[in-house]
Amino acid sequence: MSNPKAESMARYAAAVTMADSLRAVSGGVEPKVLVVLGSGLDGVVGETRVVSTIDFADVPGFPAPTVQGHAGRFVFGYVGETPALIMQGRIHLYEGHPVELLAVYVRAAKLLGCETFVVTNAAGGVNPAYDPGDIVLIEDHINLMLTNPLMGPNVDEFGPRFPAMVDAYTPALRDLARQVAAELDIDIREGVYAGLRGPTFETPAEVRMLHTLGADVVGMSTVPEVIVAAHAGMRVLGFSLVTNVAASTGHGHEEVLATSAAAAPRLATLVAGILSRL
Ligand code: HPA
Repeated sequence: MSNPKAESMARYAAAVTMADSLRAVSGGVEPKVLVVLGSGLDGVVGETRVVSTIDFADVPGFPAPTVQGHAGRFVFGYVGETPALIMQGRIHLYEGHPVELLAVYVRAAKLLGCETFVVTNAAGGVNPAYDPGDIVLIEDHINLMLTNPLMGPNVDEFGPRFPAMVDAYTPALRDLARQVAAELDIDIREGVYAGLRGPTFETPAEVRMLHTLGADVVGMSTVPEVIVAAHAGMRVLGFSLVTNVAASTGHGHEEVLATSAAAAPRLATLVAGILSRL
């Protein structure tokens, strides 16, 4: 790094630029929460009073999604009374993006006023007790992506060089999630998410390793964004939808999409219920 100060300023400027681009199309919505919807989990948008939308490809500096099942747009609107910025789809490391790109939109959302980050994903079940269709409240994660979006010069405007990751998944939000799930009579599990880079699904030996390490579910997203949000002092709530048993034979992206389509309405109802209480 030839000039760390310049690099840090450039990273901050990238977030400011994206925040400005998004604000210009927000329709006056001042979001309090950033919501990221994973593969096939678009249902939350059906419970949103949508004010405006913009495709990823139309936001300067943001790439169009390359993965089927990801619409690829930002939605400004209200869930109940709660103003939200919702991402229908996300970007993943395995698409080949630099890891810093996963930081910029979370930081832009923070600059727009989002103090809370709600993240969802499709995941493989590692815990043998989990079945496809189960909703898992993420209590913690294991970063097995072998990279970190905070590498490089720290952006002091957002947070410290060495951020703590204890309680990155905010306990008070997990309490709220349990309470809303009980009210809505939706069963949830709680577990640890292991984030791998992908795009290969795991080998059986890797799934045994993940189980030994203490993971309950495995996926290819979420970890970088949660690190960025935690660094920026945002409250975080995460859910995985188990779409398959990890390393079971015969599953593929189609099964992931089909299971998430079948089970997603329950998760959408739960997430919308929580959002409206934020
Ligand atoms: N492994 C990793 N990511 C996934 C899986 C899986 O089995 N299912 C959905 N996303």
